[in-house]
Amino acid sequence: MAETNDTQSGDTIHRGPPVTVGRYGPIQRVNHWITATSLILLLLSGLSMFHPSLFFLTELFGGGQNTRMLHPWIGVVLFVSFFIFFFQLWRANLPNRVDVQWVSQIGDVVAGHEERLPEIGKYNAGQKFIFWGMAFFIIVLIATGLIIWDQYFGGLTSIGVNRVAVLVHSMAAVLIILLFILHVYAAIWTRGTLRAMTRGSVTGGWAWRHHRKWLKELAGRGKIDPAE
Ligand code: HEM
Repeated sequence: MAETNDTQSGDTIHRGPPVTVGRYGPIQRVNHWITATSLILLLLSGLSMFHPSLFFLTELFGGGQNTRMLHPWIGVVLFVSFFIFFFQLWRANLPNRVDVQWVSQIGDVVAGHEERLPEIGKYNAGQKFIFWGMAFFIIVLIATGLIIWDQYFGGLTSIGVNRVAVLVHSMAAVLIILLFILHVYAAIWTRGTLRAMTRGSVTGGWAWRHHRKWLKELAGRGKIDPAE
């Protein structure tokens, strides 16, 4: 397990008042929201083709034919945009010893007893779990999705392989939807987190409370805006 340096190039403490801490740059935020929008469009278009009772959702995409044509292309957008984001963040998401302790104290996490937890770097074990989980399922979805993309790759695999691919694709989709719900719930439940992805910064208090090791590392490295 690696002892990682959790600070990233754009992370900076801005002197207040109030003190804020830069967490994501504008390009990273645009990247994140393209990823988020494409996943939402994929789950709507995917569910519309998953069961007849959800077929009405194809209306959002201009009917069944258009939905079938658009869904794989949106999948390509998700894959590309997620992995552009992934390669900027993977180091800060490497597991370390503190994560094991965080998981063993999950009761304290849920009960909000953060003072009993060790100091956390840029991401906690829950965020890392979602990060790697999303990466894994997006790879499974694109791989199985290409196999069942009849328009371009229809003749390349047998019907048996296609059947297995459809099943695995659907199962991965259900699991990534669950991860997505968990991610959005955690972002809303931990108050003050959403602004990291809207404004790019969090308050000094938020960083002290939830990611103290990250904040201390930034201060220790002098990543503080010069006084005005
Ligand atoms: C409406 C939907 C979404 C909301 C409200 C949302 C919100 C957020 C917020 C607030 C953060 C910053 C968390 C922090 O820095 O502590 C974040 C980070 C992140 N989000 Fe989302 N997100 C959404 C959808 C998605 C989707 C669909 C994906 C991927 C498929 C995704 C992938 C990520 C990743 C990889 C991070 C960085 C966290 C890490 O590296 O561990 N998000 N999101």
